[in-house]
Amino acid sequence: MAEMTAVGVVGLGTMGAGIVEVFARAGVPVVASEIDGTALERGRAHLVGSTDRAVSRGRLSPEDRDALIGRVRFVVGLSDLADVDLVVEAVPERLDLKRLVFGELSKICKPSAVLASNTSSLSVTEIAVTTDRPDRVIGLHFFNPAPVMKLVEIVRTVVTAPSVVADAQALCARLNKVGVTIGDRAGFVANALLFGYLNQAVTMLESGFVTRDDLDAAMKLGAGLPMGPLTLLDLIGLDVGLEVLDTMYDRGGRNQRHAAAPLIRQMVTAGLLGRKTGRGFYTYGTPAPSPEAPADGGTDVVLVTDEPVIAAAMASDRPEDVVGLHVHRDAVAEVVRSVLTGDAAVAAARAVCAERGLVPVVCGDRSGRVVNALLFPYLNDAVKMLEASYATVEDIDHAMTLGCGYPAGPFEQLDAIGPGVVLDGLRAMYEETREPGLAPAPLLSQLVTAGRGFRSESLR
Ligand code: CAA
Repeated sequence: MAEMTAVGVVGLGTMGAGIVEVFARAGVPVVASEIDGTALERGRAHLVGSTDRAVSRGRLSPEDRDALIGRVRFVVGLSDLADVDLVVEAVPERLDLKRLVFGELSKICKPSAVLASNTSSLSVTEIAVTTDRPDRVIGLHFFNPAPVMKLVEIVRTVVTAPSVVADAQALCARLNKVGVTIGDRAGFVANALLFGYLNQAVTMLESGFVTRDDLDAAMKLGAGLPMGPLTLLDLIGLDVGLEVLDTMYDRGGRNQRHAAAPLIRQMVTAGLLGRKTGRGFYTYGTPAPSPEAPADGGTDVVLVTDEPVIAAAMASDRPEDVVGLHVHRDAVAEVVRSVLTGDAAVAAARAVCAERGLVPVVCGDRSGRVVNALLFPYLNDAVKMLEASYATVEDIDHAMTLGCGYPAGPFEQLDAIGPGVVLDGLRAMYEETREPGLAPAPLLSQLVTAGRGFRSESLR
C-alpha cells in the first residue's frame, strides 16, 4: 500500500465524495464507485461543487481543479476495483450493508489490496471477518468535511497486520492528515466524546430549557467551538448521528449519554436529516428568519452571579425581577430565569447584555446552565476514556482539535479551567439530576486530590 498507485472509494455520499477529493488532491488516481448512475452523478456533483468552491476562493487554480477531477474515474459497481491497492468503503452506516460490500470486495480485489472502512462506530472486526483477508482490513475514519478536517482515526483490529497499520500511518502523512491509531471500540475516540455532547444538547432543546439559536450561540461563542451542536448535527446528518448513537449505545455498554434523544429519531423519521435534505434543526437555501424582536424592558433587574437563582430570588423581596447572569469568553451571557422570574426581567436582562456587546442566552435554572452543563460532562467522558486506557492524553486531544475543530483538546481545557472547578461542577450536576453519566470519573477526583494536571508527565 505504501507504493500505492491507485485507490478505490466505494459510496460517494458526503463522506465518500470528500475522501475522493482528499486522495485526488494528493495526486493519487481514484476509482470512485457508486451503486447506480443517479448516485454516481450526485457524487460527481459533490466533488465538482467542492472544488469549484475552492477555485472561487482562490485556493485552487482552475487548471489544478481540472487535473484533480481528471484523476478520478467514476464507475458504477465494484468490478473496476480489481487492480487498486486500497479500497475505502463509505457506504451508509449499516453493518449488514458494509459486510455485504466487503464480502464482494474480497472476491474482486487483488489479494494484496487493503480494504478499509470509513465506519463511524461499527465494529471493524465484524466487517473484517466477512473477507478472505481479515489481516488486511482496517478502519480509516475521516471527518466531515473530509478535505478540511486533519484527523484520520486508524482503527486496528486484533487481527490487523502491523505492516498494514504502518502503511496506513504513512498514507495519512502523504494525504497531509494526522493519523491516530486506536483499537476497535464503538465510536472510537472522537465520536465517543462528541456524540454524548450532541445528544445532550438535543435533549436540552427538546425539554425547552433553551432555544435552538441560544443553544448554538452558547457553544459557538461561549465555548469557542467552530459551530453550535445543532448546526453540527445538521452538517453530519441526523440519520448518521442516529446510527452512531444507536451503535454506541448497543456496543458501548448502554451508556445513557448515548441513548438517542427522541427528537433525533422523530426528525429522521420525518426526513429532516440536515443540510443534505435542506432541513434539519435549521432550514437551508431560504433566508434566515429575522431575529426575535426585543421585548420592552419595563423593570429594574437584580443581577445575581454564581449562585442558584431561585435561592437568591427567594431571599429578595422581588423574586420575579431576579435573573442570573453568567458571562463566557466576554461573548455570551447566560441569562438564567428561575421558576418565578418574570418576562419583563428577562427582556431587561437581554437589553443589558446587548448594551454590553454580549449575546444573551436565556435558559432555565439548572446546575451548569448551558455551557458548563454541556462542556463538563464531555470533559468527564474524556477522563473516563483515559482511565480505560483506550487512548493517550495527546491522542484524545488531537482527536477533538483535528477531527472536530475544537480550539483545545479536553485535557488542555481541563487543565486550563482547573480540574477542581470541573469536579465541583460535575458533582453539583450529578447531585441535581442523579444521572449516572454525570458521576465524576474517579481519576478526576484523584488528580484533584493529588493537585496535579492532566498533561503532567505521569499521565502521558
Ligand atoms: N468541503 C470542502 N471544504 C470545505 C467545506 C466542505 N464541505 N466546508 C468548508 N470548507 C472549507 C472552506 O472552503 C474553507 O477553506 P479555505 O479557508 O481554504 O477557503 C474552510 O473550510 C473554512 O470554511 P468556511 O470559512 O466556509 O466556514 P468555517 O470557517 O465556519 O469552517 C468548518 C467550516 C471547517 C466546517 C468549521 O465550522 C468546523 O470545523 N466545524 C466542525 C466540523 C466537525 O466537527 N466535523 C466533525 C464532525 S463528526 C464526523 O465527521 C465524524 C462522524 O463519523 C460523523
